[in-house]
Amino acid sequence: MQVLIVGSGGREHALVWKIAQSQKVSKIYCTPGNAGTRELAENVDISVDDIHGLREFAEKKKIDLTVIGPELPLTMGIVDEFRKSGLRIFGPDKKAAEVEGSKIYTKNLLKKYNIPTAEGGIFPSPIDAKSYIKQAKTPFVVKADGLAAGKGVIICKTPEEGREAVSLIMEKKIFGDAGKRVIIEEFLYGEEASFLVFTDGKNIVPMVTSQDHKPIYDNDKGPNTGGMGAYSPAPLINDKLFENITMDIMLPSIEGLASEGRIYKGVLYGGLMISNNRPKVLEFNVRFGDPEAQPILVRMKSDLVPVLEAIVDGNLDKIDIEWSSEASVCVVMSSKGYPGSYEKGKEIKVIREAGRLKDVVIFHAGTAYQDNRLVNSGGRVLGVTALGDDIEDAINKAYEAVKMIGWEGAHYRKDIGQKALKYF
Ligand code: AMP
Ligand code: GLY
Repeated sequence: MQVLIVGSGGREHALVWKIAQSQKVSKIYCTPGNAGTRELAENVDISVDDIHGLREFAEKKKIDLTVIGPELPLTMGIVDEFRKSGLRIFGPDKKAAEVEGSKIYTKNLLKKYNIPTAEGGIFPSPIDAKSYIKQAKTPFVVKADGLAAGKGVIICKTPEEGREAVSLIMEKKIFGDAGKRVIIEEFLYGEEASFLVFTDGKNIVPMVTSQDHKPIYDNDKGPNTGGMGAYSPAPLINDKLFENITMDIMLPSIEGLASEGRIYKGVLYGGLMISNNRPKVLEFNVRFGDPEAQPILVRMKSDLVPVLEAIVDGNLDKIDIEWSSEASVCVVMSSKGYPGSYEKGKEIKVIREAGRLKDVVIFHAGTAYQDNRLVNSGGRVLGVTALGDDIEDAINKAYEAVKMIGWEGAHYRKDIGQKALKYF
């Protein structure tokens, strides 16, 4: 079969890499892809928000299955568009994707179905929001309702900071229409984890656990990024907690959505805060995490394609997934300046040799070829991923490869995975 993968990040390279191993697949296209996906797929220059262009391409090439990487086309309704044309596509439709598209929709859903989350209020105007702040307990968090590329959350230590956040989001509109309404909620203390499940809208199959590292610098200092590294499993999530998150958070969310007439098919990603073994939902994402997909997919032993097809067909109950008992770590290498404006066009060196190390896979994100030279072309550039006997072994293998690779201004965190080691 022919598969189309939409996106251009490390997550999409990992999806291409995994799907390329399937016996069922004869040809892969990636739109728009990167220099890494080009090795395994045919890259085609269609942007992820050109949903009509993507549909026309899938029709013309007779694509058997389309897999969506990022949230934007999902919240725009690409799944509805493909289904209308009888094309098979993996991901939630527009109504179901609202769980990432609107934090207010999700907050109401969680409340209605008694799923644990931070206490807070929903504010349609800056006057109401500022008046609430007068009596809100500090610290608190102000969140833009809509998509803001992971940046729509402002943590406020004082009422002044809160008023400033409301003004930036609702009056100065720094996130555009995403900030028409805000949520103000209590600040949750604890440790974060990512919990991803496959679901066909009725059944859920959890993936192995993982943990991201959002801030740019070691020890979680500096501004938040899309994610500077991840590992799997997350030892923070013991067996009991795994069961508890599955049964008390992920399953009731899927069932709640179904009761609202929103049959959710795809990957549901729960961003959780865990405090004293008690999980609460910070957010939902409607797709694989980036970089969580990289360490998760290298641990998946089963063929991914039958899982994706079972979800599209609504018979995920027939599927068992086998995972490697090894641990994995992905270290993201980024461009100088990221997550602010960054430098591009610098030649990346020694990547082939590093990629030949045992148990190491190098996933590309912001990479391109310029005059036959491999150069950086985005903020996050590579996700150097390794499997090991345990997290420590995987950390060592990943950093051995990272240290071989370089370009002018390359940055990476030196402490990816360290958080996990305190549990052993
Ligand atoms: P979100 O996009 O809602 O996941 O928020 C992005 C990041 O902001 C999360 O990964 C957390 O680090 C932080 N965050 C969001 N909500 C809260 C909260 N209520 N308490 C503490 N941190 C939060
Ligand atoms: N790694 C965070 C995300 O994918 O949203």
